[in-house]
Amino acid sequence: MLNRDGEKLVDPQSGEFYPVVHGIPRFCDADNYSESFGFQWNLFNKTQLDVYSGTDHSEQRFYSETGWDPSDLSHYSVLEVGSGAGRFSEVFLRTTTGVLHSIDYSSAVDANHTNNAVYRDRLQLAQASIYEIPYLDNSFDRVFCLGVLQHTPSFEDSVTALIAKTKVGGEIVVDFYPINGWYTKFHSKYFLRPFSKRLPKPFLLRLIRLNISWMLLLFDTLCFLRVGFLTRFIPITDLRGFPKGLNSYQRREWAVMDTFDGLSPEFDNPQRVKDVARMFNRGGCEVTFAGLATYPAGCSTVVRAIKRSS
Ligand SMILES: C[S@@+](CC[C@H](N)C(=O)[O-])C[C@H]1O[C@@H](n2cnc3c(N)ncnc32)[C@H](O)[C@@H]1O
Repeated sequence: MLNRDGEKLVDPQSGEFYPVVHGIPRFCDADNYSESFGFQWNLFNKTQLDVYSGTDHSEQRFYSETGWDPSDLSHYSVLEVGSGAGRFSEVFLRTTTGVLHSIDYSSAVDANHTNNAVYRDRLQLAQASIYEIPYLDNSFDRVFCLGVLQHTPSFEDSVTALIAKTKVGGEIVVDFYPINGWYTKFHSKYFLRPFSKRLPKPFLLRLIRLNISWMLLLFDTLCFLRVGFLTRFIPITDLRGFPKGLNSYQRREWAVMDTFDGLSPEFDNPQRVKDVARMFNRGGCEVTFAGLATYPAGCSTVVRAIKRSS
């Protein structure tokens, strides 16, 4: 049990302490590989939040991927890992009456804190790594980790870390970039990433903004001409997964942000579904679903698993 002492949390046993900045305990160095996400989510802090985009995209995605029922969730202990600006935290907090424990390795936690300020009494945020989650093992009934695992240095170690924090009988849901075949990495993003991820983040963002208009036009033209498979040669995010109903300004901002999200992170490790399912099996879990979860704007590759042994 940690004691709150002014602006830090103190472990009475080891004497170790963790700073509390802007009301959020920090269990890791501010300077780490996820810095690009801190930059991204504090700049595009509202872009993908349902309440600001005027869509129900995040809500549809969350419930389609997890298969959970909001009324059950209200009674469970729930952990979110890698919350970014808090689009799924917002869905959880708006649609349930439960408490959410949520971590992210980057300063994105500040964006989440601001975005979900109205739910402050039900949102327990911390800046921490998936490899050092500041909760005891076997603590949670439900754990979700969406849009994160491909961006961690070791996919399997990350899965193991999620399993450790889940109670026996509890459920874990993850989604990730899939490997669909040899052609998955035959994509302009993967050709550019060795360079683009090393660029200063504001400079990369500027480059994307300067080029976004022609890339949008070309992408839409190729889709209109029914040669959408050629869009992999344009270094822009796949616009076909965007929610319907965005106006042209919103669509452009989503495109800039998602393109940055593809070109800037340190790690981008897509996986085969069967390999991820095996990681859960090796960790003592029963896989209850491994495949595509669909929702109105598209689909995600998802694995759901129940922890069977400790
Ligand atoms: C693509 S964003 C997804 C954010 C959010 N889940 C969403 O879908 O909008 C990936 C997030 O994972 C976080 N992340 C990366 N490595 C992490 C780690 N080792 N531990 C915890 N979070 C991590 C990043 O900081 C970033 O906010």
